[in-house]
Amino acid sequence: MTEKKLMRALAGEVQAVPPVWLMRQAGRYLPEYRATRAKAGDFLSLCYTPELAAEVTLQPIRRYGFDAAILFADILLLPQALGAELWFETGEGPRLSTLTTGADFSRLRGADQVHDTLAPVYETLRILTRELPREIALIGFAGAPWTVATYMIAGRGTPDQGPAHALKAANRPLFEKLIALLTEATVGYLSAQIEAGAEVVKLFDSWAGSLKGADFDNFSLQPLRRIVAALKARHPSVPVVAFPREAGARYEGFARATGADCVALDTSVPADWAARHVQKDGCVQGNLDPRLLVEGGPRLVEETRRIVHAFSQGPHIFNLGHGITPDADPENVHRMLDAIRG
Ligand code: CP3
Repeated sequence: MTEKKLMRALAGEVQAVPPVWLMRQAGRYLPEYRATRAKAGDFLSLCYTPELAAEVTLQPIRRYGFDAAILFADILLLPQALGAELWFETGEGPRLSTLTTGADFSRLRGADQVHDTLAPVYETLRILTRELPREIALIGFAGAPWTVATYMIAGRGTPDQGPAHALKAANRPLFEKLIALLTEATVGYLSAQIEAGAEVVKLFDSWAGSLKGADFDNFSLQPLRRIVAALKARHPSVPVVAFPREAGARYEGFARATGADCVALDTSVPADWAARHVQKDGCVQGNLDPRLLVEGGPRLVEETRRIVHAFSQGPHIFNLGHGITPDADPENVHRMLDAIRG
C-alpha cells in the first residue's frame, strides 16, 4: 500500500487523521504567490511558464505540508486550446470570445488538436513529478463540460449561467455538439496529464447546481460518466474526483452514477447528511466554508473539528467547500491544520 495518505483515502481507507489539501491553495492569499505572479507578468503567462507554474504549485506544500499538490493551471486553458480567445481582466475575472452560432463552433479545433497549446501544462506536471516530496500526491484537473461551456457561450462568468441555458433552449443540437466536443477533449487532456505524472484527476463542475431535473442527468452526470469510463479504460488505477458544486440532494448516488472514486462536497451540504447519504458509496472530500479562513477564531476550530468528526467513520479528504479567497489569513490555515492534525 502506498505511503501517500491521499491515495489511501481514495482507495477507501478510513484514517484517524484525514489527508488535507485546499482548493486554490496556490493563490493570491499567499505573498510568495503574488511575487511569482508579478515575475510572470500576468496570470496566463504564469500558467504557461512551467518553471513558475511548478514553483507556485510547490509554495503551499512548503508552507503547510499539505498531503496533495494540485497542478497550477486553469479550467479555461482547454477552451483556449480549442481556439477560443481567452484573457483575464484584472479584478474582474476571465473573458472569452463568445459562442452562440454554428459558425462560432465551426471555428474551433478538433478535440485531438489541443496538445500543442497545452504542452507547457504537461511540462509543469513532469517538473512536479521530479520535485514533489514522495509522500505528497499530485492532482491534475479539468473543468467539466457543462461548466466550461457556460464560460465559452457567455464569454465570461455569469451569476445564473443564463446564456448557456438560453443556447440549450434555442439551439439544442449546437449545445449538444459543444458538450460532446468538450467531453472528448477533456478525456484527451486528462489522459495526457496522467501520462505526464498526475496521480489523481479532479473534474470541476462548479455550475452543476444550475442544471435541474433531466438537464442535470444529461449535462452534468452523463458527460462525467463518459469521461470517467474513458479514463478508467486507459488508466484503470488513477482515481477520479468529481465536484458537482451545489448539486444538493443530487450528491446522493453521484459517485455510483458517474463511476467517480470520490465526490467533493460544497459548503451548502451538511456534513452529517453527507456522511450518511454520500460517504456510504466511498470517499468524500470537503467541506469547510472558506470564509472561516478569513474570520478565524473559535468558529474555525469548532467547524474544522465538527467536519473531521462527522466524516470519521469512512474515507475522507479534508478540504474547503470552494476555493480559498484572496482575503484569507495565511495564519488561519495553520490553525485549521492544527485542529485537524493536532
Ligand atoms: O490551486 C489550485 O486550486 C489550482 C489552480 C486552479 C486555478 N483555477 C487557478 C486560478 C484551479 C483548480 C482552478 C479552477 C477553476 N478556474 C474553476 C473551478 C473551480 C471553482 O473555483 O469553481 C473555475 C470556475 C475557474 C475559472 C476562473 N479562473 C475564474 C472564474 C477566475 C477568476 C476568479 C478569481 O478567483 O480571480 C480564475 C482565475 C484564477 N484561477 C486564479 C487562480 C489562482 C486567480 C488569478 C490571479 O492570480 O489573479
